[in-house]
Order: sequence, then structure tokens, then C-alpha cells
Amino acid sequence: MRLDGPVPPPTITIESHLASDWAEGAMREDIASAFAMRPRVLPPKWLYDDRGSALFDEITRLPEYYPTEAERSILSQRAAELAHFTGADSVVELGSGTSDKTRTLLDAFWEAGKLKRFVPFDVSEATLINAAEMLADRYRGLEVHAIVGDFTRHLNQIPSDGSRLVAFLGGTIGNLYQEERQAFLGAMADTLVSGEWLLLGVDLVKEVPRIIDAYFDSSGVTEKFIKNALVVLNRELEGNIPVDQFDYVPYWDPRQERVDMRLRALTAIQARLERLDLNVVLEANEEIHVEISTKFRPESLSAELSDAGFELDRFYTDDRNDFGLFLARRM
Ligand code: SAH
Ligand code: TRP
Repeated sequence: MRLDGPVPPPTITIESHLASDWAEGAMREDIASAFAMRPRVLPPKWLYDDRGSALFDEITRLPEYYPTEAERSILSQRAAELAHFTGADSVVELGSGTSDKTRTLLDAFWEAGKLKRFVPFDVSEATLINAAEMLADRYRGLEVHAIVGDFTRHLNQIPSDGSRLVAFLGGTIGNLYQEERQAFLGAMADTLVSGEWLLLGVDLVKEVPRIIDAYFDSSGVTEKFIKNALVVLNRELEGNIPVDQFDYVPYWDPRQERVDMRLRALTAIQARLERLDLNVVLEANEEIHVEISTKFRPESLSAELSDAGFELDRFYTDDRNDFGLFLARRM
């Protein structure tokens, strides 16, 4: 902490790129098209209402859910090195959530004395504002510029001055489908200028039972989180989908090396989403695809990064080789 002299007041700005009716409009479009296709694939950003964000926070503390602690251990070992090596004076965090682990990183950047600005970026406004206030209070004199936005659409809203490091942690890139991931990396490359940094945290391929346990915990929190997708639809779109008529079924897809999290209808379902004037009709055993979590191999991810215009500078992992942190530079 810089404690010499008077302590400056916290500096926060919050910029929203989601209009107040955005959720409604975008959700209507997303959900109408999700239920028009087979299989039915829901966009995961609708999982993170207040309840979803709280359930996610619980997931990160489950004994079976190894990624959070694995990533935290890498960050605490490498933060100082990252601060010195990159020399970035502006840290952007995509899908920042509570920015809990990020404090480890920011502490080191702050200590190194160059950090001027932190830009947390998330769709979940309430979580973002809480985090921004906490951080502005912790690092007095740091400019905290929070962006409420969708990282698949609004990367061009990230302030462009300074030398930036964009952190995308928590394995969130693994929740994008392959085409979306490729589009995301391309857009990221367009956003950054040569010499700027991308710090990407991803879960690595490992023994399948440990992966499945992480997404099928014994206390049922992950099931609640995934089922929350339907709870949100019922609330926002005046629906009557019978949530308890679904089983949570996580699959391991060996070809794509990802967990596929689905909800399977136990019986034939006939429900309504009133605000969409849409009948939701599912046969017994029909599945709704809610989210994927892709696991990565260092070689193939570094090839994807280089195709997108990045050069891999550092690859770090934890003691068990569970999680990978990639530092890439825009070429
Ligand atoms: N980075 C944190 C949280 C990961 S959970 C960690 O490592 O633990 C994923 C976060 O991304 C949530 O906070 C969610 O609100 C946000 N998110 C999901 N889809 C998003 C999107 N399309 N645009 C912006 N944020 C998104
Ligand atoms: N990105 C993390 C992961 O894939 C966190 C996460 C997103 C998650 N959606 C999830 C964890 C659903 C469990 C269930 O692990």
C-alpha cells in the first residue's frame, strides 16, 4: 500500500453499455431462438442474475471444485513477476465477477508502483459495482473504471490509453463454444495494439472423474446454478416451466474435451413463456443445453492464440498441473 501523504478518496466510474431494456430485448431474442432450434441451447450469460452470481460464488468454494484454488495459487506465485515483466499500467478484467482472486494480481501491480487504472467488465451490474467499490477502497488513488457490458460484443468500449493487460480468468473462455471462442480471440486481437497483453486462465485436460466431480458436486450447488437458468426465464418472461421436472445431467464429451451441462426433461413438458407468447414443448428425456466448460491442452490453445495474432510468452501451471495461466502478447 502507498501510505505516505494524505489518502485520496476512491475514484470510481461506472459505464453501462447495456440499455435498461437491454436484458429484456436481448433475452427475448436469445430465448426465442434458443427454443426454436434443436437441440435447445441456452446462452449462459442469463445464468448470472443475483441468485446465479451468489450460487457461482458458492461453487468456487466447493471442495470438489478445484479450478479456483488452483488458479489462485498460480496467481499468488506469479503476480510479482507478471507485474514486472509486463509493466502494464492498466489492468482490464473480463467476466470479473467479485474480482476476488484478482486482488492477488492487483496487489502485486500496485506494489510495483505503475498501476493507474483497473477496468472490471461484467454483465452482472450489481456484482460489478460491489467489486468496484471494494477495489477503489483498497487501492486509494487507483482509477476504477467499471464497464457493464457483454464481452462477446463490447470489447471496443475498453479505454484504449495506457499500456494494457487484459485478464480473462476463471476458465470463462472455456464456457464459449469453439466458434465463439475463435471470434472472441479475434475481437480481442483487434482491440489490443501490438505489445499489449492477454492473461488467460484455463482449466486443463486431466483425469475425467475429477473433472466430472467438479461439475457434479455432492451438495447439489452446481445443479441449482444450472437450474437457475430456468428460474430466470420463468421470472423474466412470465413462464411456468416446471423446474423440478428436470434432471441435471453433466456429460464428458471426449472428442471436444468439454463438460456439457444439460437439463433433461423427466416427463413431457408443455409450458408457456407468456412474454414471448411462446409454447415450450419438450418430449420426455429431451435435453436443454445450458453450458459447456471446455478443458484445454497447452499446445492447442497456444496454436489458437497464435492464429488470432498473439505470441505466447509465458505458460504457468500449479503443482498438480490442474490449471493453466497463459500470458500472451499481441504481435
Ligand atoms: N472471473 C471470476 C468469475 C467467473 S464466472 C472467477 O474467475 O471466479 C463468469 C463471470 O463472467 C460472471 O461474473 C458472469 O457474470 C460474467 N459473464 C458471463 N458471460 C458474460 C458476457 N457475455 N459478458 C460479460 N460478462 C459475462
Ligand atoms: N468458467 C468456470 C468453469 O467452467 C466457471 C463456471 C462457469 C462454472 N459456469 C459454470 C462452474 C457452471 C460450474 C458450473 O468451471
